[in-house]
Amino acid sequence: MSIFITGSTGYIGSYVVEKLLREHKNPLALLVRARNEDEAKKKLWKALQLHMPFDEFISFYESRIKVYLGDLTKHDLGLLGGIKEQLVDDMNSIIHVAASLNRKSDKACFNNNLRGTLHVIKLAMASNKRRKLKRFSEVSTAAVAGVRQDELVLENAMIDWDRSDYDPYARTKKFCEYMAHELLEDIPKTIFRPSIVLGDSRFPQTTQFDMVRAFVTLSKLPVLPFNKNWRADIVPANFVAKAIVDIHQKDRTLFESYNLSAGSASLTFEQIVEVLSEHRGSKPPVFIPMLDPLASALVRQLANTPKWMGVSRLFSLMKVFWPYLNFNTVFDNSRVRQELDLVPEPFDQYAYELSKFAQDGQFNYAYKPWPDGA
Ligand SMILES: NC(=O)c1ccc[n+]([C@@H]2O[C@H](COP(=O)([O-])OP(=O)(O)OC[C@H]3O[C@@H](n4cnc5c(N)ncnc54)[C@H](OP(=O)(O)O)[C@@H]3O)[C@@H](O)[C@H]2O)c1
Repeated sequence: MSIFITGSTGYIGSYVVEKLLREHKNPLALLVRARNEDEAKKKLWKALQLHMPFDEFISFYESRIKVYLGDLTKHDLGLLGGIKEQLVDDMNSIIHVAASLNRKSDKACFNNNLRGTLHVIKLAMASNKRRKLKRFSEVSTAAVAGVRQDELVLENAMIDWDRSDYDPYARTKKFCEYMAHELLEDIPKTIFRPSIVLGDSRFPQTTQFDMVRAFVTLSKLPVLPFNKNWRADIVPANFVAKAIVDIHQKDRTLFESYNLSAGSASLTFEQIVEVLSEHRGSKPPVFIPMLDPLASALVRQLANTPKWMGVSRLFSLMKVFWPYLNFNTVFDNSRVRQELDLVPEPFDQYAYELSKFAQDGQFNYAYKPWPDGA
C-alpha cells in the first residue's frame, strides 16, 4: 500500500520523498503537476538531484514511485474516474505537503491552499471509507500563529482565531489545519508546523534561496533596524523532513500537532549576522532598533519602485518577510523533542557554508539536465 504525497517536486517535499525512499519500504504515489509522465519524471529528477545521483533516482523511480498527474486546484485533483479510483484503492496514508507560498496573492493561496487541501481531504475520506487510512499528515507552518510580538508561542496556543494574520498564506494555512481537524474526525492526523526552513545542516547546497538571500542581504548592511537580541526561529530542511517522516510512520503519536522549530534555542540577530559577517572578514552591522518604523516604510516604498531600477524584486521579498523578522517570536518545540528526542542543529553551525554556496552561485542552483539518451 502506498503513501500518497503532494508537493514532491518542491523543496520540503523532495526531502520527505528522499527520506521515505531511503529509510522505508512503502511504494510512493506522487501527485505531480505536469502534462505527461515524461515531464513529471523530469520535474522529479530536478527536485531529487539535490539528494541523489541520476542512476539511483531512476532505480527508485522504476521500483517505488507511481506518478499521478494532477493539480490541487482541480476537482478530484484532476484525476479522471479510473485513475482516481486506483489511487483511492492504493493509498493507506497521505502526506500533504503542497501549497502556494505566495504571500502576496489571495487568489493563489485560496485556490491552492484552501481548495487544494479540501480536494485532498475529500480523497482521504473516500479512501478511508474503503479501508481505514493509517494517517493523514498535513505540512502547515508556524505562520499560523498569526500576529505576535516578543513571544515564545507554546504548541497548544498556536491557533487563536481572534488574532490577525500577516498575509493570505498564513490565514489559508490556518484554515487548512481547521478543515483537516474538523472533517477527518476518524482518521489519525498530524499537523507539522515548520518555522523558517533554511538549508541543510549536513551540506551547503540548497535549491531554495529566498530567505537565504534576505539574511545575506541584511548581514551586509552597515546598520540594521532591529534589536540585536531579537530572535529568528530557523531550522534546517533535514530536521523538518526527519520529523515529518518519523512521526508520520508511527502507529501512534503523542500529539496531533508539532512545531518543527528551534524554539527557545533560536539564535539572536546578533548571533546570526555575526556568523555571516565573521567568515566574510567584514564588520557586523550596527543595530539601531529605533530605525525599525523608518526601515519598514522604506522597504515598502522600494518594493513599489519600477522594475528598471533593479531593486523592486529584492524589496518585495523583504516586504513580505519583514513582519516575520521584526516580530521577535519563536515557537516552542517540546512536542517533537518528546516524541523523537530530536532537536534542530543551530543555524550558526551551518549558516556560513550555506550563505557561501548561495552567493557563489548568485542565488541559483546549477541544475543538472536530464542525461542524453536516458
Ligand atoms: N519553505 C519554508 O520555509 C516553509 C516553512 C514553513 C512551512 N512550509 C510549508 O512546507 C510546504 C512545502 O513548502 P516548500 O518550501 O517545499 O514549497 P515549494 O518548494 O514552493 O513547493 C511547493 C510544492 O507544492 C506543489 N504545488 C503547488 N501548487 C500546486 C498545485 N496547484 N497542484 C499540485 N501541486 C502544487 C508544487 O508543485 P510544482 O513543482 O508543480 O510547482 C511543489 O511541489 C508548504 O505546505 C509550506 O506551507 C514551508
